[in-house]
Amino acid sequence: MSQELIKVLLVEDNPGDAFLIQESLKKRRKTQFKVTQVERLKDAFSCLESDQFDLVLLDLFLLDSQGLNTFTEISLKANHLPIVVLTGLNDEEMAIQAVRLGAQDYLKKELAMGEVLIYSLCYAIERKRTQEQLKQQKIQLETTNAELQKRTKQLEILNDELETFSYTVSHDLRSPLLSIDGFSFFLEKEFSEQLNTQGKSYLKRIRQAVSRMDKLIINLLELSRVQQIEMCITEVNLSEIVKTIFKELKQQDTQRKVEFKIAPNITVQGNKQLLKIALENLISNAWKYTAQEEVATIEFGVLSTSEQNIDSHLEIEQNQLNSEIDLSPILPTPIYFVRDNGVGFDMYQADKLFTPFQRLHSSGEFPGTGIGLATVQRIIHRHQGKIWAKSTQGKGATFYFTLS
Ligand SMILES: Nc1ncnc2c1ncn2[C@@H]1O[C@H](COP(=O)(O)OP(=O)(O)OP(=O)(O)O)[C@@H](O)[C@H]1O
Ligand SMILES: [Mg+2]
Repeated sequence: MSQELIKVLLVEDNPGDAFLIQESLKKRRKTQFKVTQVERLKDAFSCLESDQFDLVLLDLFLLDSQGLNTFTEISLKANHLPIVVLTGLNDEEMAIQAVRLGAQDYLKKELAMGEVLIYSLCYAIERKRTQEQLKQQKIQLETTNAELQKRTKQLEILNDELETFSYTVSHDLRSPLLSIDGFSFFLEKEFSEQLNTQGKSYLKRIRQAVSRMDKLIINLLELSRVQQIEMCITEVNLSEIVKTIFKELKQQDTQRKVEFKIAPNITVQGNKQLLKIALENLISNAWKYTAQEEVATIEFGVLSTSEQNIDSHLEIEQNQLNSEIDLSPILPTPIYFVRDNGVGFDMYQADKLFTPFQRLHSSGEFPGTGIGLATVQRIIHRHQGKIWAKSTQGKGATFYFTLS
């Protein structure tokens, strides 16, 4: 700025005022001003067309234009330039209006001399520059924002297409599989006598593989489906859902000794169909991974406020392992949990829990497809909630979730 030459268009029809202003702007040590003076608005327009200026210093009362109109006319032509309005004794109110309409500043003529004038002009130029920069940044931000929104929309469409694709593929894969299942079933039933021991063993393995693949496809279909189910929200009694799941599991295996603890009447606002799928997965995991316990314990409940505080300290450690955790929003919302006393898992692998097809135990130890928890996580996210887990190997696992 100090080395700059500032080109001023002075629109002033009073020769005395014009002279004083030009004198004030002469021979400044740091800033050099080149002043072009005109007396009429129409001359100002021609100057603006033929030359480049840094600033317009404008008297509102000219021979060919009077009052606020002078400002509006010139600001239409010199919208990109800072305009400083010169006022007489009685037109300060009008100058204020000009500032409201976009003038950078106004100066009373009797004060428009020396340092005050210089300061005012430099300040007006700087302020206009900052405003222009801000305007540019705003335009840039709006463009980036629009671009981002466009990309998000494209991603959503792609995601939907991918979901539909995986749903269709999974669905279509099931029909040939059901044929293999049906024909191998009849082969076993009606022709088993004609097969030797090795043949029978091969057939058994085919049927086991078919059953595994069918489970995998069913789980994949469910993973896609949870994304597509419409989110109708109602009051849902989680305790009742858990009770029914426990009853069904008991009926499937009457031999196992399992102690169930269910906190009564835990009700939430959510999608019943989805929450049932989530709880089925969490509790059937607890059931599965406690299979080796003589007496298994599976508990469903909600943390009390004091437990939440204790847990939040423990979560800090897990925070490094599991990016799901963000303590600040967790504290005020209820934290529900499913706890068991089974084999547990290695906390260093906790970040893999919710990734599709990732399993922390081998199929030999515990059968499974590794899709259950990914499905649970999608459901919790659809409720704007969070899910995370804690475990000590050999001492059980606890899965926590919130529903916003
Ligand atoms: N309650 C639990 N105790 C110990 N480990 C668990 C528990 N729940 C889940 N896991 C671990 O997390 C992995 C992922 O669980 P997930 O439910 O996604 O898959 P899965 O149970 O192996 O198969 P499926 O898709 O049939 O449910 C499991 O393979 C297991 O290693
Ligand atoms: Mg599972």
